[in-house]
Amino acid sequence: MKKYDFDLGIFKGNVYINGVFKNTSIGIKKNKIVHIGQLKPENCLQSIEFENKYILPGMIDTQVHFREPGLTHKEDIYHGTKGALLGGITSIFEMPNTSPATINEIEFQKKIKIAETNSWTNFAFFIGACKANVSKLDELEKMKGCAGIKIFMGSSTGNLLISEEEDLEIALKTCKRRVAIHSEDEKRLIERFKTINKSNGVIEHEKWRDSLSAIISTKKVLKYAKKYNTKAHILHISTADEIQLLQNKGKFITVEVTPQHLTLFSPDCYNKLDSLAQMNPPIRSLEHQIGLWKGISNGTVDVIGSDHAPHTLEEKKKQWPNSPSGMPGVQTTLSIMLNHVNNKKLTLKKLIELLSENPCKIYNIKNKGFIKEGYDADLTIVDLNKEIIIKNENIASKSGWSPFNGMKLKGSPVATIINGSIKMIEGKVLEKPNGKVIDFD
Ligand code: DOR
Repeated sequence: MKKYDFDLGIFKGNVYINGVFKNTSIGIKKNKIVHIGQLKPENCLQSIEFENKYILPGMIDTQVHFREPGLTHKEDIYHGTKGALLGGITSIFEMPNTSPATINEIEFQKKIKIAETNSWTNFAFFIGACKANVSKLDELEKMKGCAGIKIFMGSSTGNLLISEEEDLEIALKTCKRRVAIHSEDEKRLIERFKTINKSNGVIEHEKWRDSLSAIISTKKVLKYAKKYNTKAHILHISTADEIQLLQNKGKFITVEVTPQHLTLFSPDCYNKLDSLAQMNPPIRSLEHQIGLWKGISNGTVDVIGSDHAPHTLEEKKKQWPNSPSGMPGVQTTLSIMLNHVNNKKLTLKKLIELLSENPCKIYNIKNKGFIKEGYDADLTIVDLNKEIIIKNENIASKSGWSPFNGMKLKGSPVATIINGSIKMIEGKVLEKPNGKVIDFD
């Protein structure tokens, strides 16, 4: 039998190498990139051409909620990662507010076990901080496959919460790795909830969880992160004020925004989508959205994360404030952002930084985020000219809907290569899940 030098040869694409696009080929053996440069198809067991397409390092979504265990009527690891795969995402970090919450080794290992057989993408899981584990976080964060610690400073879906300042201080002092933080001030949320006119419906959501709720909380994070040199990552920033505040954030603080906050704005989104547009922290006015885009162009924002947070349409139809917060997004994040690239809101290079390079640098992911010999063969192939319409019927999430349903976009992932195998091509999913646990340095 003929011996091949490469299991897979990728030809004719614009490959993103060392910050520039190069017309070259990639040779893959097992799950690694082993050669970049001239290549002969006869030396490859399998060959594929991507003429006029861009070959990017695999896109990484560092903020998804896949609801397994306990809430699998909304989502599970199989369907969540299938959506990720279809959306050009090769690795995910999953959040701990499942049921039970992921707050100890037993619950953590349960998730790893499920993902080992059911995950289409590579995966890591966060451990949730709570009163009971706050002084042991430095032990928990060391587990293989742990992305880091997640802190909810304001209540959201589930019951994970670190609302007392002294517990926040202990957590930020204890954690040695990066800590991802949902930054809304619980005390203020409780006080303001009493004053809100509930009969006005979801339009009150952003009045209740106002910009000061976010700012007060983010100031507390800065105070303790600076005191202890904690690597704090502030998730889904929603206000222009925080972007301003974080402009001189220093080298330990990093910042994430979601495609929802960069695309939707109030009151328009609530008029059109009602509680489908409800999330925490809320979608705010166009002024805030402009501030977030400024944060992208001036380098304050480091990462784009989907905050994929599915709930069923039935649950979402409940009268606000009983309607749950969050919307699906892992499958649409890259397309939405490519459309923004086509609209000149950011460059493709910047997008690669936000969705691949920076997640690797910030969380110390090993051997991913760059197309380099010796690195993992996780690649996202995109067609910047492909026009698509987002349709609920194509959403793989168990929740089966998208806030962007009906939206026309230019730019789409056309293939996803994970661990050296083509797992998605032109919207078709191939073979079985073969995601691997992510290694960290
Ligand atoms: O809107 C949200 N939904 N924000 C969060 O932080 C949690 C999420 C969820 O899990 O539903």
